[in-house]
Amino acid sequence: MDFAVELARRAGQVLREGFGRAHRVEHKGEIDLVTEVDRRSEALIVEEIRHRFPNHAILAEEGGGQGVGGKYRWIVDPLDGTTNFAHGYPCISVCLALEYRGELTLGVVYDPLREELFAAERGGGACLNGRPIRVSALSDLSEALLATGFPYDVRRTGSNLELFARFIRRAQAIRRDGSAALDLAYVACGRFDGFWEMKLKPWDLAAGMLLVSEAGGQVSDFRGEGKILERGEIVAANAVLHVQMLEVIREAQGR
Ligand code: IPD
Ligand code: CA
Ligand code: CA
Repeated sequence: MDFAVELARRAGQVLREGFGRAHRVEHKGEIDLVTEVDRRSEALIVEEIRHRFPNHAILAEEGGGQGVGGKYRWIVDPLDGTTNFAHGYPCISVCLALEYRGELTLGVVYDPLREELFAAERGGGACLNGRPIRVSALSDLSEALLATGFPYDVRRTGSNLELFARFIRRAQAIRRDGSAALDLAYVACGRFDGFWEMKLKPWDLAAGMLLVSEAGGQVSDFRGEGKILERGEIVAANAVLHVQMLEVIREAQGR
């Protein structure tokens, strides 16, 4: 944990130094961006993990990872919120998670602009800058502040628009802030009452989902099952709201 926290802070510094400055932006897809800062942050993280834990596998978004097999695997998003970053919208994070024999054991989400570090260890609870955090205690979806996001294929598929239309009629309000990992961290500390999103990748989800469950919340895929990373979809909230959110999704999917 000490290593992961220190590393997230150092990568966060790379993001902070690049924030608001002109930088080269490349397109990975029609609206899916990557900047030199994503790559610099990832290079730092991968190099440090390799140096300290040469036998650990690494799965990192920009492809700098290495190794398969072994007991430990790091899951890394060097910059979650790249579109925000490219526009100077101050909502970005670094995410590091560690699996041991396929089970998530540690998650860190760091917001370098607010200097907020969210961390969780399996069985050890979750904290924000060292203080314990918990999900909200709200029990009525109509009073809930929810968050979501839209995948990069939204122009072609309209994915999540139907669910958004349903939730906006049922919740108090919805935010779309552009960093799934921070959205989950905000659920963990009760700023958001719930979060759902689809077509996410393991590096968007791994650290944040552990934060929510260690903060006393429930996480599942859209069917209420545990295949979050496989299916790339998540519903996260306290146990009571989680049931209500799954119900809305079930209605939308005609199940
Ligand atoms: C994205 C963010 C965004 C979510 C997208 C992700 P990136 O990650 O988490 O909130 O809606 O689906 O891909 O590309 O900024 O690392
Ligand atoms: Ca991401
Ligand atoms: Ca990213």
